[in-house]
Amino acid sequence: MGSATETALAEIRFNRPSLEGRELAYIKQAVEAGHTSSAGPFSARAAEVLRAATDARDVLLTTSCTAALELSAMLLDLQPGDTVIVPSFTFSSTALAFAREGARIKFCDIEPETLGLDPQHLDALLDDSTRAVVPVHYAGVACDMQGVHEALAGRGDVDIIEDNAHGLFGRWRGRPLGSLGRFSTLSFHETKNFVCGEGGALIINDDLDVDRARVLYDKGTNRRAFLLGQVDKYSWKDTGSSFGLADTLAAYLYAQLERRYEILGKRRTVFDRYTELLSPHAEEHGYRLPVVPEDCEQAYHMFYVLLPDRPTRDAVLASMRASGVHPTFHYVPLHSSEGGRRFAAEPGDCPVTDDISARLLRLPFHNNLTQTQSERVVAAFLDGLNNRATLEKPA
Ligand SMILES: Cc1ncc(COP(=O)(O)O)c(C=O)c1O
Repeated sequence: MGSATETALAEIRFNRPSLEGRELAYIKQAVEAGHTSSAGPFSARAAEVLRAATDARDVLLTTSCTAALELSAMLLDLQPGDTVIVPSFTFSSTALAFAREGARIKFCDIEPETLGLDPQHLDALLDDSTRAVVPVHYAGVACDMQGVHEALAGRGDVDIIEDNAHGLFGRWRGRPLGSLGRFSTLSFHETKNFVCGEGGALIINDDLDVDRARVLYDKGTNRRAFLLGQVDKYSWKDTGSSFGLADTLAAYLYAQLERRYEILGKRRTVFDRYTELLSPHAEEHGYRLPVVPEDCEQAYHMFYVLLPDRPTRDAVLASMRASGVHPTFHYVPLHSSEGGRRFAAEPGDCPVTDDISARLLRLPFHNNLTQTQSERVVAAFLDGLNNRATLEKPA
């Protein structure tokens, strides 16, 4: 039997996916209805929510964001010698999807405010080999899209593919994140704002891509056209793979999307609470909280803190974990990783990425993190800093 004290001192996990509405009822309904493979009724409903939210031409639910990035890479028809520019501060998939279609990767540094692509470095990396740029809206805050557009001015041959794994329902200058490039991709992995275990989506913003995307999505066949009654039989047409999300998972996802305003509201509360509790101590301890530029409406994906240096970050991580609170670090720079070096077009130099990666700590963040839990996280964080300060003081 748990006393109040025991409950208060339970481990605080980094992430905790939650049931927010009709998830179990819809999964049951999908199973009982019998259409459990892709392109079922729940897929159509979930895709329509996403289409309306991003003003897309079409939305294809995929098995992951990685799969959606792979589909976008296939649609680019990359040729030998083509390069794709991605931030070094991102997940491997942002680069891998294009590398496996034969592109060489150029790693772009990030700018220290939004932790998104640095337009100046982007400008320096662009050349005749560039086929695409893949901005990531880190933490659901738009990167400097004005700067990205300026760098790409006059380069109509270079496509933007937004890796919007963090930013569903975020906005930049009033426009939905995910509507700013030829394609964008979403993640519904259990660590994201809206989850179904593993899942993703490709957002298609150009009418000209819709038909071919549907073929590549469905094992290279025109099955979708057949299902829509546009052709009387279907057959193999093109390259592709099996990208579709099972309707059982789409049912889970749709229930989460139905509760999108409540989920975003809860996450905003957690974010604001951390900001309020941590701001008063930032100057004294030399840490920095997330910056959300005025022209961005963020998606409340995470809460990170930038510590003064790597040893302090690592000491605070260890100290918090020892007290049962589980923060974590984030991306290890891709430009210096083994895979990054293997698929790079040229050696990368991304000093801001190196610096940020060494100093960033993410606090536990999920829909139902309570006031008491948030207070305990912040207390453990400040304890970690104070312990380190004590250890460092000369005897
Ligand atoms: C920016 C970014 N892109 C892509 C991915 C891959 O997402 P998924 O696990 O849905 O393939 C992640 C995963 O965390 C990510 O952070």
